[in-house]
Amino acid sequence: MASTTDNTLRLRATIMQTPTAERLEVLHDVVVEVIGGLIASITPATEFLGEPDAVLDSNHVLLPGLIDLHIHAPQWPQLGTGLDMPLEEWLFAYTFPLEAGFADEDFAQTVWDDMVPTLLANGTTTGVYYGSTHNPATTALAATCARVGQRAFVGRVAMDHPDGTPEWYRDNSVEEALAASADSIAQIRALESPLVEPIVTPRFIPACTDELLTGLAKLAHDTGTLVQTHCSESDWEHQYVFDRCGMSDTEALDSFGLLRPSTVLAHAGHISDADMHTIAANRAGIAHCPLSNTYFGDAVFPARRALAAGVSVGLGTDIAGGPSQSLFANAAHAINASRQLEDGVDASIRADSRGVPESRIDAVTAFWMATMGGATVLDRPIGLLEVGRRFDAIAVRAQSFGDGTPPGSSADAPDARVFEKIVRLTTADDIDAVWVDGRQVAGN
Ligand code: GUN
Ligand code: FE
Repeated sequence: MASTTDNTLRLRATIMQTPTAERLEVLHDVVVEVIGGLIASITPATEFLGEPDAVLDSNHVLLPGLIDLHIHAPQWPQLGTGLDMPLEEWLFAYTFPLEAGFADEDFAQTVWDDMVPTLLANGTTTGVYYGSTHNPATTALAATCARVGQRAFVGRVAMDHPDGTPEWYRDNSVEEALAASADSIAQIRALESPLVEPIVTPRFIPACTDELLTGLAKLAHDTGTLVQTHCSESDWEHQYVFDRCGMSDTEALDSFGLLRPSTVLAHAGHISDADMHTIAANRAGIAHCPLSNTYFGDAVFPARRALAAGVSVGLGTDIAGGPSQSLFANAAHAINASRQLEDGVDASIRADSRGVPESRIDAVTAFWMATMGGATVLDRPIGLLEVGRRFDAIAVRAQSFGDGTPPGSSADAPDARVFEKIVRLTTADDIDAVWVDGRQVAGN
């Protein structure tokens, strides 16, 4: 497989990708020329003058790298466990005790050194991370992404409200929370990595006072930093904000000044049509976390309706609320969940009133969310292999069709079916190379 020491590369491959949420694009046997991490040209191999440095064989397909819009990094040790409670109990019983342990910098580094390479091996070339309230551990996460070579947005979590936090894991005051958040931005920027950016991170309204939320919005504005938070995740969380703020979560975040361009709103399963309009008008976006929503969301996020309303939607694992580190697994589940939303789930209800018509999404839309959808939310030139974007890509071994015939050599395997297999079935074992910004960072 292709191996380069710098971020200049000429790679011959067949590309599959989704320029829009409705369109699969297949570029058969092309040479992608990458100069300084930037895609400089994509040329049919038969017309390319010169020698490629590397060639993907016909069993492999080159895809844009996956963008995970929602990861709680310090929850990595509990991935796959502890999903037996509703969100508000799970936070206090399992999650806050675990996150509080990231005061220990050695422990934190051990976790980051396991997590970041594992996510890259799963095809996640960009991660949008919540750290903990600890600046040393959060900056170490950013430094690990920079060193290992993953594109990342890393946020120091701010949380000071006694309703939504335990007294042993909370910012002591608005002033301390704002100062630590500003320091964290400066520390991450001081790494001077072209791959890593800070992101302002109020955990969610139940964990933050009005003063902190207003202060963090001003910090994001003054420092030109993106924002991430949770929005209308569950019945409890959605109702809590109505009770406290007298308006929806979306409206409240907007009133605090947090609904900025590229603000990443996790979940949003309970938003109204008016909320969708507000999110789209502010050019914020949603991290759809389908596996997590199955456990905590109390509902299926209406992805198709949100896209039709003009909202930017990407995908998130929500590690560890969602029990998989794989965005492919989440893309597959996004399709499954949308089908259950469309059909309904309770057979005792008449079929014609059981579900929500026209809710289904397919593999093309799911993969678009995992790539271009995320890139659109973040407004960064990634998510698609085209001239002018950064070369973040993965080489995937395409699934055979059961007769041992690899799809690339099978004349009767239509591209759309090969692509469907990739979206639904790919695991880390099938990902043989990963590039970020033109540099190979995983695989052999
Ligand atoms: N809301 C506030 N904090 C969290 C968290 O850690 N996970 C999820 N899923 N939702 C949250
Ligand atoms: Fe979350």
